[in-house]
Amino acid sequence: MSAENRTDRRPPRHIAIIMDGNGRWAKKRGLARTAGHAAGAEAFRRTANYCRTLGVEYLTVYAFSTENWKRSEEEVSGIMTLLARYLREALRDMEKNHVRFRFFGDLSRLSPELRRLCLEAQSRSDEYHEVQVNFCLNYGGRDEIVRAVKAFAQDVREGKADPDDMTEELLSSYLDSANVPDPELVIRPSGELRTSNFLPWQTVYSEFVFMNVLWPDFSPEDLDAAIEEYHRRNRRFGGA
Ligand code: IPE
Ligand code: IPE
Ligand code: MG
Repeated sequence: MSAENRTDRRPPRHIAIIMDGNGRWAKKRGLARTAGHAAGAEAFRRTANYCRTLGVEYLTVYAFSTENWKRSEEEVSGIMTLLARYLREALRDMEKNHVRFRFFGDLSRLSPELRRLCLEAQSRSDEYHEVQVNFCLNYGGRDEIVRAVKAFAQDVREGKADPDDMTEELLSSYLDSANVPDPELVIRPSGELRTSNFLPWQTVYSEFVFMNVLWPDFSPEDLDAAIEEYHRRNRRFGGA
């Protein structure tokens, strides 16, 4: 393939990233894990800006899983503080950046202040269409499906839905990712080869790119490399 052809290729509409490796990045430097998360937040800012430059329409990032509460209180509160800081900054720069925010996950377990920041970021950015960032916060793919099934069952109980009408599209509409196209590309840095409860419903036909770089070191060149790898894949969707 010529270089021209390669640059002609549009990036995926939707890229999802498991932002992993912050702890190991910090350990290698003799720093506290929280310092790794702070560096990870910088990597996120860099990557989100670059995605906007490339014209990626949706960027979904795994920031905190339903399993991450197992970590020390110090680490969890450090991550929550960084998230609140980022959201305050995003709210301040909203008119300049035009990023649309959505949050996937059960926000009810977050602190009232963090939840308020999420809801404000979501409602104030709703009119923007340049790039949409979906933050997965207290997110678990199984938890998302359980909450969707409960919401559907409640609608059945109230006479608003009929089990006979259930389809893949209808179930999708009850998920946190309602109205968001499935990601074409999922990237996991840090060298781990698993999905860790990330978007199980939405990624059945996504292309996965696993990379050895630790998330805080993730650069625009790494994203280019992942997109190039994506373009090399032959996507068949079950066809011959
Ligand atoms: C990802 O980095 C951030 C979160 C899960 C919140 P880790 O903190 O999991 O980093 P490693 O995997 O321990 O290196
Ligand atoms: C997945 O990473 C969650 C996030 C990146 C937010 P983990 O570090 O929690 O996953 P495991 O423990 O390696 O599977
Ligand atoms: Mg990890």
